[in-house]
Amino acid sequence: MTIARLRKAVFPVGGLGTRFLPATKALPKEMLPVVDRPLIQYAVDEAREAGIEQMIFVTGRGKSAIEDHFDFAYELETTLKAKGKSLDLLHQTRLAPGAVAYVRQQEPMGLGHAVWCARDIVGDEPFAVLLADDFMVGKPGCLKQMVDAYNRVGGNVICAQEVAEDQTDKYGVITPGNRDGALTEVRGLVEKPPQGTAPSNLAVIGRYILQPEVMRVLEAHETGAGGEVQLTDAMARMIGDQPFHGLTFAGTRYDCGDKAGYIQANIATALAREDIGPAVRHFVEGMPLD
Ligand code: UTP
Repeated sequence: MTIARLRKAVFPVGGLGTRFLPATKALPKEMLPVVDRPLIQYAVDEAREAGIEQMIFVTGRGKSAIEDHFDFAYELETTLKAKGKSLDLLHQTRLAPGAVAYVRQQEPMGLGHAVWCARDIVGDEPFAVLLADDFMVGKPGCLKQMVDAYNRVGGNVICAQEVAEDQTDKYGVITPGNRDGALTEVRGLVEKPPQGTAPSNLAVIGRYILQPEVMRVLEAHETGAGGEVQLTDAMARMIGDQPFHGLTFAGTRYDCGDKAGYIQANIATALAREDIGPAVRHFVEGMPLD
């Protein structure tokens, strides 16, 4: 089996982010900061660390702030330079010329549809999908861990995490097969199974390495749970035809699509920082617990 090198990543950022209204009325959810960097910046850095060379953003209405974020900010750079201030923080946001592409999802029809919108840029090679609102903290990063596994087993590798039994109805859930360390063979996938019907408590988290054939399956635009075109359903169709594994990531995941998860990510990140960590720790430790 030849394992094609992974060079491209798709960032679906076309969702409406309704759980964060009114903050997300004019601001894309992916631009919400964890301390001082937007969620999408962390996801892009994670992809860069994993060796990804081309970033493909699937955007939608009201998402232009994301495009601006990764552009050359001429006025800002000139002003900072004139004042003798460091440009380091701005340079971290730059993507190499030609390393970025934007496609538009004209209507948020679901994650599967968003991924399908990138089909022409992805072409006939494997690709990663990163959902920026799953904020992953690990060393190496989550996608790097997945790429290392992919380079051994090939096929499709998705990020898996055990969740509480009463939470499985919020996720895509894996029917597990053989386990080999952190890798679990995926025998089946079901999106948001009703309470009590989940095949396991191993949930799919927002990082995927997929073979291009999934685009052909998504082409049918079949809708599933919630009336949306589900990526999980399309992936499920590929099981049996290609190797399919879940990788249990060594690290911590924060669900930043959820308000409590987002606040937890901010506190944990702040506490880990040298500059603001001590002040935040002092504050948190002094908080009454009730
Ligand atoms: P979510 O369902 O978590 O995001 O989609 P949402 O719809 O934006 O948020 P809520 O639930 O209304 O608060 C998971 C990911 O898929 C993207 C979202 O941007 C998010 O990163 N997505 C979802 C799309 O790009 N297009 C879609 O049609 C749906």
